[in-house]
Amino acid sequence: ADAQYTFRARDLLIERSPVQQPPINLEDLKFGTVFTDHMFHVEHVVGQGWGRPAVKPFGLLQVHPAAQVLHYGLCCFEGMKAYAGVDGRTRLFRPELNMARLRRSARRLQLADFDPQELLACLKQLLMVDRSWLPEREGYSIYVRPFIFSSASALGVAKPARSTISILLSPVGPYFPTGLKPISLFVDELNRRAWPGGVGDCKVGGNYAPTIQPQVEAAQRYGTSQVLYTFRESHEHPDHGEFEECGAMNMFFYMEQRDGRRVLATPALTGTILPGVTRDSVLQLASGWGECEVQERPITIAEVRQASEEGRLLEIFGSGTACIVQPVGSLIRANGEVYRTRFSPDDDPAGSLSSRLQRALLDIQYGRVEHPWGVALD
Ligand code: COI
Repeated sequence: ADAQYTFRARDLLIERSPVQQPPINLEDLKFGTVFTDHMFHVEHVVGQGWGRPAVKPFGLLQVHPAAQVLHYGLCCFEGMKAYAGVDGRTRLFRPELNMARLRRSARRLQLADFDPQELLACLKQLLMVDRSWLPEREGYSIYVRPFIFSSASALGVAKPARSTISILLSPVGPYFPTGLKPISLFVDELNRRAWPGGVGDCKVGGNYAPTIQPQVEAAQRYGTSQVLYTFRESHEHPDHGEFEECGAMNMFFYMEQRDGRRVLATPALTGTILPGVTRDSVLQLASGWGECEVQERPITIAEVRQASEEGRLLEIFGSGTACIVQPVGSLIRANGEVYRTRFSPDDDPAGSLSSRLQRALLDIQYGRVEHPWGVALD
């Protein structure tokens, strides 16, 4: 029964690529478009259990045209990063959280279950095989993309009879082409990213596909690079809408209250928000610093508008594995209103809360400080 439940890292087959791609130019690296020489692969068939896990040369996948993933979006994924430490060691950041979330997402889609520690052990070996791809430069890393999909050929909407797990490695720099300059977001009060009882708290492909049209339209109309979703507004009370997240980032609002107290607030995990690893890390870091009150709660449009009008909206930023901490300079609404932050990292690059959080995370990720969140592989 044990053999059926999970594959084991000790069985990992390593098949080295006969060819090695030429070195990459970091200057014109577009996020997620370049891949290393190897990938991870393992398959599960209901009734037969797991096959042998393997690191193989990077290459195309063969899937049946009726594979459920191609029709019903039966896929989920994770985003992680591996960093070249200042001490020469390779580090992951809180990887066990990504593995646990992947397992939860897979369960939501009824894909095969596995032991997250075994997958993590395979992932580490894959990284070691392609270690030479790891950019040794601040701001750069290998983006690690584990994913699971239904490779079962069946047009019925039913539990997948076959699941495939793969891991890709992609050397990356900053997620946004503008780097760490503050971006502006379009506040989308029409389209929904998630809803109560839905899967907004799972990292399933179906949460991402429908966000592209709003993103493209907002880019055309407002020149924004991301959309910030809202929820719970009504016709009579549009400003009662609550900010949710962006899809690629969780959101943080750093505000001064009328009594002068400072709060860092992010939407609570009520089921429509992805429980981000960076989100959790930001919350813990900021709580530990003790310079402001840290809150997980609803944040209404009305509250942010008022704070902005009164000069109390200090900073807004997004958090995520890909973007780490991304400052946001303004929110643009369809009704023409624009809410600007008082503080921009441009004013005081070292002093803003977002850049200090960014710095603290990078210090752990690049091993400049010893911290349990930075997990060294070698
Ligand atoms: C991440 O931050 O890793 C994400 O998953 C965001 C995006 C690339 C989908």
